Amino acid sequence: MKKIAGNPYLKKENDNFFVDLIPINIILKKSRTPLMILLENRIRDNINTFRTAFNTRFNNIKYFYSFKANYLTEICNIICSEGVGAEVISLPELKLALKIGVPPNEILVGGPYLPKNLIEKCIENKIRELIVYNLNDLDKINKIAEKYNHIQNICIRVNSQKYNSKLGIILNEKNITKLKTIINTCNFIKVNTILSHFSTQMNSTEQFKNNIIVIIQNLRKLEENGIDIQNINLGGGFPEATIMPQEQLKKIAADIGDIIEESNFTSKNIFIEPGRYFVGDAGIFISKVINVGEGWAILNIGNHICPKFARCSLRFYNISQINRPHKYKLSLLGIVPTDQDVLAKDYFFTQNVNEGDKVLITNVGAYTLTFSNRFPYSLPDIFLVKDDKIRRIFDSISDHDISIF
Ligand SMILES: Cc1ncc(COP(=O)(O)O)c(C=O)c1O
Repeated sequence: MKKIAGNPYLKKENDNFFVDLIPINIILKKSRTPLMILLENRIRDNINTFRTAFNTRFNNIKYFYSFKANYLTEICNIICSEGVGAEVISLPELKLALKIGVPPNEILVGGPYLPKNLIEKCIENKIRELIVYNLNDLDKINKIAEKYNHIQNICIRVNSQKYNSKLGIILNEKNITKLKTIINTCNFIKVNTILSHFSTQMNSTEQFKNNIIVIIQNLRKLEENGIDIQNINLGGGFPEATIMPQEQLKKIAADIGDIIEESNFTSKNIFIEPGRYFVGDAGIFISKVINVGEGWAILNIGNHICPKFARCSLRFYNISQINRPHKYKLSLLGIVPTDQDVLAKDYFFTQNVNEGDKVLITNVGAYTLTFSNRFPYSLPDIFLVKDDKIRRIFDSISDHDISIF
């Protein structure tokens, strides 16, 4: 059988397309299109590939899955069952992590918005670290921690200095002075980690190097000012696993390791927070052609559920004609009623395209649901596939909504 989109769990044999070990026709009997399928085996493989690559360079590294990439309970459950910790940004995500049994000591919580009820839940549950993007949050955290008589570990997210990013703290003289004052007066917080997350879908080793350089520069400033940091958090930003082979991951790990070694900060623990790499290529959509014109076709899926914001490496295949050459240019449009709903321009596709043809869209496991909007179309059913077993994990008719509360 031949792999599709470089994914060993998407295969074709003659005119048949298989999702893991299941022929697509069996799946299509269970649901209308569009539908989403998530591949459990691929998620587990991705975690192992990633960990093997980084474990070869670091012996003091911890992994935290960035829940926002795909916060479906089953997906978070699969990832955390592999012994990966959780990186969450909100109260609903924190509740989910606790509900599925992630030990609090394996949970990092943080983001640009830390409301009081989120901080309280973190402290009540003694989560590992609160990540702050704004120094003013420290006082708020200290007051709540004091109420619980608990010393809360803190991670400082520094500004990665990428373009004009507003995320994270710029450790200039003013902010360092402010941080020192806060540390001297707030007895219920302990700043012990520094984080920089550079970008998403980073394909070049240089971007990962730039990120660790920013971390090292800031780490030096902190230590020169008497602030002792034990952990370096590298953030996420890796593309889908089919896009980045393990050899490249190893090279990135080696380069990061070398920069840390040159800086003499080798005793620090390393944290890393991949999202997309674990789940991106483990998700596919199956959609259908609903209209065909000269050089274009409209699919019954659009930017409301397959959004550009998700920055997925989208690939399209006509699975009704899977054995035909995909070398004729076609623009694929979505169903949001605006001319702006273009899923792909001049994409290599089959020569003939018929209404009703089923279209596979790959690499949609990360951020599609997260960035989806409430445009008034039905949500897709979502299936989890493992070997020859298939389970509907979201029924659009009875479950209504993918939000977590
Ligand atoms: C701080 C932080 N960590 C991790 C991630 C996960 O990123 P990715 O899914 O690109 O690996 C993000 C994404 O925005 C982030 O902001």
